[in-house]
Amino acid sequence: MALTLKSGFSFDYDNLFGEGKVTQADIDGYKETLAKAHEAMKVMRDTGFIKAHLSKDGAPEKVYFSKLPYITEENGKLNLNSPASIKRLHDFTEKIRNNVDAVVSLGIGGSFLGNKVLFDIFCGEFWNTWTPEQRKGLPKVYFSGQNIDPRRTGDIINHLKAMAAKKDGKFKVMLICISKSGGTLDTMSNFMVMLDALKKDENIDVEIVAVTDPNMEKKTLLKQIAVDNGWECFAVPDGVGGRFTVFCEVGLSTAAVIGMDIEAFLQGAQDMDKACQNEDVFQNPAMLNAALKVLAYKKYGRNIEVMMPYGDYLKSLSEWYIQLLAESLGKQFDKEGNEVCEGRTPLVAVGTTDMHSQTQQHQEGTLDKVVQFIKVDKWANDLVIPNIFPTVKKLADISGLPMSAALEVARQSNADALKSNKRFNACFTLPELNEYHLGELMYLLAMSVAYEGELLNVDAFNQPGVEAYKRIMGPKLQELKAKG
Ligand code: PA5
Repeated sequence: MALTLKSGFSFDYDNLFGEGKVTQADIDGYKETLAKAHEAMKVMRDTGFIKAHLSKDGAPEKVYFSKLPYITEENGKLNLNSPASIKRLHDFTEKIRNNVDAVVSLGIGGSFLGNKVLFDIFCGEFWNTWTPEQRKGLPKVYFSGQNIDPRRTGDIINHLKAMAAKKDGKFKVMLICISKSGGTLDTMSNFMVMLDALKKDENIDVEIVAVTDPNMEKKTLLKQIAVDNGWECFAVPDGVGGRFTVFCEVGLSTAAVIGMDIEAFLQGAQDMDKACQNEDVFQNPAMLNAALKVLAYKKYGRNIEVMMPYGDYLKSLSEWYIQLLAESLGKQFDKEGNEVCEGRTPLVAVGTTDMHSQTQQHQEGTLDKVVQFIKVDKWANDLVIPNIFPTVKKLADISGLPMSAALEVARQSNADALKSNKRFNACFTLPELNEYHLGELMYLLAMSVAYEGELLNVDAFNQPGVEAYKRIMGPKLQELKAKG
């Protein structure tokens, strides 16, 4: 059983639905709840309203992520994607091309994870070792701010300085500092350390771009410094929480730096949004995914989702999803304020790598998981396994196979084995790993957690739990500083 869209994107839920799994009767019994959730999504799309959603400051806040796939003048008024904002991103690409040697993108959580997905998938591991011609004049790209790790920050600085020392003429570094709140410790500490060190190097020219809340009345710290120093700014719009920002200028600034097809990415998201407007649960990818996963959790105790794409460069997609699911649904209180301690727990895995580590637990361990595979149908630059040891039967037997076919046989075998032992699993298939299909998948997952929030009756758009440690950390840092 699979839900396949016109684009070829599909959700195969055969190993999650049917006898001994989530049943038709389960779905039928859930009809009213699903209809209510679907209605809530309609209202969210039309007005931005989500019942009981409050901002960090306790004020009612609109939710606008579902507007991001649409490039309209009207959305521009809300700092969402508009023809002008997309043009500005294209201009940004051309401004950087053949001009900036290296970009460091600084951010954490929602200001990092989606950007890393785009970089990993469209640039791969060796982008920074390529010549400028191979990168079509676009810069090397580094990420920082996603930890407060002195060793790695020092390594990046030293690496940039070493490259600068070798260059004839100034080495141009662009720091893109991304923080919606504009004051996050992890991001800002790295930013300050890096800016200070690079400015002191006579071989380096530094340019800074800030991506933050654009509000001019109540400026974030980053916005204030950016305005004071005349830095170029991009916006993290109101109503778009960190984990949904890959579709706004947070993710799209990285997309521009690497010359990605931004319109195709948003078009994929838009077409998925349209598919998710279908009121028939079996025709609506997000509602179906959310319904099956919530029922698997509530009725069959499958409260862990292992996100397991097959392919190295998809690992960061799994990491992005971890934040999306964990921050959206791991909630102590429901929308009425009752203590519920809700939410499924996400886990990162990658095929085939983790078949040699985690699969033992998936196959025989606690019956608490749904393994969600992601498969790419057609790989660019596929390689065929050659017959270079014809006398070694085991190796000769696999020769002639494209590596992608071997990868898929491994995934399918894993799915079959899990199925044979009552282990729930499902698969998203991307016809190709391109901007359009990635947009479809990321948007589907974002919309799924929005549905799941409604099904579980929790606010999927706040994250009060992350304030708890921040309240402890702030005074501790001040205390430390006071001690000298
Ligand atoms: O999803 C979220 O809201 C968080 O993960 C934030 O993105 C993260 O804490 C970074 O926040 P900021 O962009 O304000 O620096």
